[in-house]
Amino acid sequence: MKALETFDVFTKTAASLDWLAGEIKEGAVREFVKNARDLAGIYADEAALQRMNPNRVMYRVRWIEPALPGSEGGLFWGVTIIEPGQVGDEYFMTHGHFHANRTRAEFYGTAHGTGMLVLMNKERKTWTEPMKPGSLHYVRGEYAHRVANTGDKPLAFWACWPTDAGYDYEAILLRGFGARLRCRDGKPVLINND
Ligand code: F6R
Ligand code: MN
Repeated sequence: MKALETFDVFTKTAASLDWLAGEIKEGAVREFVKNARDLAGIYADEAALQRMNPNRVMYRVRWIEPALPGSEGGLFWGVTIIEPGQVGDEYFMTHGHFHANRTRAEFYGTAHGTGMLVLMNKERKTWTEPMKPGSLHYVRGEYAHRVANTGDKPLAFWACWPTDAGYDYEAILLRGFGARLRCRDGKPVLINND
């Protein structure tokens, strides 16, 4: 009966959004915040990361869970806000992950700001899709995904993903993506990493 209870809670506290601001105004909102210290091993220039204030907020994720994590058939809804900035010549970006369940896809939709969605298939082929207000991105279940903020203002994007997608951060921590998005003459360029 647990799923039903969760559903009841959700219907009583249904969420309200400010779509363009990328804000969940009301609802049982969960949050995780990634500080500089949480992103060790992600950037090529680890020394540049170490020189930063370890408490510096790089990005935050806020989401609602109208169904139980791991349950089949449900969806989560959330927003990620990435601060502007660089670590060495790489932009502030999400850790990046595969879904633990490689059959589970996801939508990303940009609220404000500009960035790049970096995608990688299982053969490590890596490519990007530009993100700008209104851009909608379908992430296939078998693709690793990461977002970099290439602008000088915060980047906010909505996401909708299955309750049983899960996260596989391990694969990215071990080998990263097949290419890195680096700032070259003020522009983002995807550069082979393998
Ligand atoms: C959920 C999803 C997003 C990310 C968020 C932060 O499947 O893709 O909600 O979790 O953008 O990125 P990570 O999780 O890679 O730190
Ligand atoms: Mn995901």
